[in-house]
Amino acid sequence: MAGIEIRDLKKSYEVDGRQLPVLKGIDLTIPEGRITVVLGRSGCGKTTLLRLVGGLEAPDSGEIRFGASHRTAFVFQEPRLMPWLDVTRNILFGLRGREAEPGLVKDIIETVGLSGFEKAYPAQLSGGMQQRTALARALAYRPSLILMDEPFAALDHFTREQMQQELIRVQETENCSILFVTHSIDEALLLGHRIVIIDQGQVERLYDLEDEGRQRDLLEDRFIHIKREIVAELKGQ
Ligand SMILES: Nc1ncnc2c1ncn2[C@@H]1O[C@H](COP(=O)(O)OP(=O)(O)OP(=O)(O)O)[C@@H](O)[C@H]1O
Ligand SMILES: [Mg+2]
Repeated sequence: MAGIEIRDLKKSYEVDGRQLPVLKGIDLTIPEGRITVVLGRSGCGKTTLLRLVGGLEAPDSGEIRFGASHRTAFVFQEPRLMPWLDVTRNILFGLRGREAEPGLVKDIIETVGLSGFEKAYPAQLSGGMQQRTALARALAYRPSLILMDEPFAALDHFTREQMQQELIRVQETENCSILFVTHSIDEALLLGHRIVIIDQGQVERLYDLEDEGRQRDLLEDRFIHIKREIVAELKGQ
C-alpha cells in the first residue's frame, strides 16, 4: 500500500541557547486511505511530527516521502475560525481562493451535520459545532491527507463520540489518509487502523488494528488487553 514513508526523521529546537532534541529518528509508514493515530506523553513531539509532515517546518535530517501527489489539510485542537465569516464562508475559506464545485459546500455541511446553520457566525455556534465547521473547512479542500492535532479534546463525551463516528464515516467516504494525534487511548482504539506510540523521540510501539472493522466495542477483552498494554507503555515513559 502506497503512503507516506518517514525515515530517520530528526528535529531539535534551540531553547535558551541549548539544543533540545525532540524527534530522534522517527521511522514510520503512514498507510494511504487509513487512520493512523499517534499517542505519547505530553512534550514527546507529536505536534512537531505533524508540523513536519505538513511541511510547516523542515526537519534537521531524515526523509518524508509522499507516494502520490498530495493535498494536505490541518485540523487543530481549537477551531481557528474567522469570527467575521459565517459557516459557509468559513468553509469556503478552506478552498484557499479556488472556485467551489457546485453543491460541494452544501454536501460538506450535510456530512458534518451543520445543515440549517449555513449563515450562523462562529460566536453563535457551540464548541462542537465550531469544530465541525473546522472539519468541514478541511474537507472542502478535498485533501488526500488530513493532519489532526487533538481535534476533539475540548468536546464533551457525547459530542466527542458523535464526532468520532462522523470522522470514521467521512474517512471511509473520502478515502483520505488521516494522521491523528490524541491523548485518549479509547479514541485511539476506536479510530485507528494503526496506533503509533512515541517515546523519547522515537517510535516505541506500533499496533495494527486493520482487521478490527469500524464498529468496535472497546469493552471486548482484546481491546481491554491492548489498552492495558498501552497504559503500561505510557506510564513507563
Ligand atoms: N518552536 C519551538 N521552539 C522550541 N521548542 C519547541 C518548539 N516547538 C516545540 N518545542 C519543544 O519540543 C518538544 C515537543 O513539543 P510538541 O509540541 O511536539 O509536543 P507534543 O507531543 O505535541 O505535546 P502535547 O501532548 O503537550 O501537545 C517540547 O519539549 C517543546 O518544548
Ligand atoms: Mg501537541
